[in-house]
Amino acid sequence: MSKKQVLILSYSYSHQTRNLMKKLVSGMEESELEITWERLYPVDDLRFPIGSVPATVLMMFQTFFRKRYPVKPVAPQVFGQWDLIILAGPTWSYNPSGVILSLLDRDGEKIFKDQTVLPLISCRGYWRVHFWGLRSLLKKCGTKCVCAPIVFTHPNNEPWNTIGVFLKLAGKMPERGKGWFRKVYPKYGHSRKQGETACELGKTLGRDIVAGKSFAELQFDTPVQTMES
Ligand SMILES: Cc1cc2nc3c(=O)[nH]c(=O)nc-3n(C[C@H](O)[C@H](O)[C@H](O)COP(=O)(O)O)c2cc1C
Repeated sequence: MSKKQVLILSYSYSHQTRNLMKKLVSGMEESELEITWERLYPVDDLRFPIGSVPATVLMMFQTFFRKRYPVKPVAPQVFGQWDLIILAGPTWSYNPSGVILSLLDRDGEKIFKDQTVLPLISCRGYWRVHFWGLRSLLKKCGTKCVCAPIVFTHPNNEPWNTIGVFLKLAGKMPERGKGWFRKVYPKYGHSRKQGETACELGKTLGRDIVAGKSFAELQFDTPVQTMES
């Protein structure tokens, strides 16, 4: 019997999605699957961190209105038929990132029509509007099934989480400071433990795909993982 074919399309601005995907893929690779991983890159390089407070505010404002960041062409093999497509990327101002939006504009129908798509979201903490928007855009492209998403949120307490992400984007390196803020905001992004969770999820997902489990049934319990010591 031929192996099940899985396509991964991912964009990552500050390496958080990328690191989670590496772990997820390492878990999936334990199953007999054919995995094709296409990383998405913007045409114009996006520097991380953004570097200043005004530039960060501007990017947040523009991305709130779904500014597109044109994406480089993808490999021809992406336009094939897949058992599952995993579409992974960050939340930008309640929306999918401008790079994924640009992919959907240009190639959405060609890639996603009649396919089953599992979104993976990396975000600071708020992902629902992103998911609803993505699901509606995918449906417009003719996607057959949009699965419940895998979501990873940064494991820090609010309001420090929001402030910390903003400072990090603005280039202020909040986790390197000496004061009290470092205690309430020890690290930007996802934890090692979340990486391990992604790996375990990959193992389960791989087994489920090989077993031919219905994708509509798949539920991932990741949103509850917001607080960790
Ligand atoms: C312009 C911009 C806007 C963002 N807006 C949100 C948001 O609305 N909600 C949220 O939870 N995280 C938001 N974030 C944080 C990212 O989603 C988060 O840091 C994610 O882990 C980054 O993943 P990546 O490194 O793969 O790009 C935003 C980040 C950027 C750069």
